[in-house]
Amino acid sequence: ELGLYQHYMQKEIFEQPQALADTLQGIEDFSPRIFGENAQAVFETVDSILILACGTSYYAGLTAKYWLEAKAGIPVNVEIASEYRYRSSVPNPNTLVLTITQSGETADTLAALRHAKEQGMAHTLTICNVATSAMVRECELAYITRAGVEIGVASTKAFTTQLAGLFLLTLVFARLRGRLNPQQEADYLRELRHLPAAISAVLALEPQIIAWAESFSRYENALFLGRGLHYPIALEGALKLKEISYIHAEAYPAGELKHGPLALVTEQMPVVTVAPRDDLLDKLKSNMQEVRARGGQLFVFADSDTHIHSEPGIHVIRLPENYGVLSPLLHVVALQLLAYHAALVRGTDVDKPRNLAKSVTVE
Ligand code: F6R
Repeated sequence: ELGLYQHYMQKEIFEQPQALADTLQGIEDFSPRIFGENAQAVFETVDSILILACGTSYYAGLTAKYWLEAKAGIPVNVEIASEYRYRSSVPNPNTLVLTITQSGETADTLAALRHAKEQGMAHTLTICNVATSAMVRECELAYITRAGVEIGVASTKAFTTQLAGLFLLTLVFARLRGRLNPQQEADYLRELRHLPAAISAVLALEPQIIAWAESFSRYENALFLGRGLHYPIALEGALKLKEISYIHAEAYPAGELKHGPLALVTEQMPVVTVAPRDDLLDKLKSNMQEVRARGGQLFVFADSDTHIHSEPGIHVIRLPENYGVLSPLLHVVALQLLAYHAALVRGTDVDKPRNLAKSVTVE
């Protein structure tokens, strides 16, 4: 079953172009109905979105907040399901409760959904990879990602397909709220259709990432930095690394460096930076200077437009394309490969990391 691959995780990383193509199959007739029969009426009623999820799925939610607020102008809150379910919050019956879950069986996410419903929030949508799951049964609306079965405990292809679903949701809300003209919509849909090819080009960077993994795997700690849309991607990269290589990793929005974590930076601290060309790149570059000034080793994932070059202490891998607002889907693939190859060098059980289960069906 593994074919040419050494682990399910590696296979699943490489299946992402196909998983995206399968998930995006239905966009030829793009309309609110891809989220369910009644979706348009529900989406026209709600005034905000509350996203509930755990782990990697929560990071997909954080990314979606940037998209939905910037492109559709709808306010979004994102909460960790295990916190939300026990918190006294202020229910808003006009909120769309959106759960994100690969398995559809995560106990905390299901409990958070039920808690929201008990508080009178009746509009519910899930983005889920398992059509027969409890989550799909319990939500009014559903969007089924087509990642296929994910066996590796560390989530990879489920995450990128969730992002694709969330971007489609952004386009639907943007259209319904009059924020998207047909030309812009067609452009975004074209970029979505090109994603499988764009991701394949990132996968082709594997040899360069393997070359980094050897030195990277010697560290016991790592910092991940990103800004804006790429802060959640830094969080996801750090989670992947700690889960499977057991290297302690933390992610920060780069602007927070001087508010604390800069104290950790020495020659012994690798700092992985997600640095595509975007509005915040100049800010990020000055954050990188702060790291270099303290001797930190920078491992930078740039892109074709970034203008950052390798020099002593600064290692750069350049993604072949700048992918604008969809760039998180490309950068996360590079971070998955870095975590995978660092773990391989360390000889850990990549598909079944210690102490973790694929589906967390108990609290
Ligand atoms: C990390 C990972 C977990 C899951 C989390 C939620 O690699 O896989 O953090 O994302 O347990 O699982 P689902 O999406 O099934 O609700």
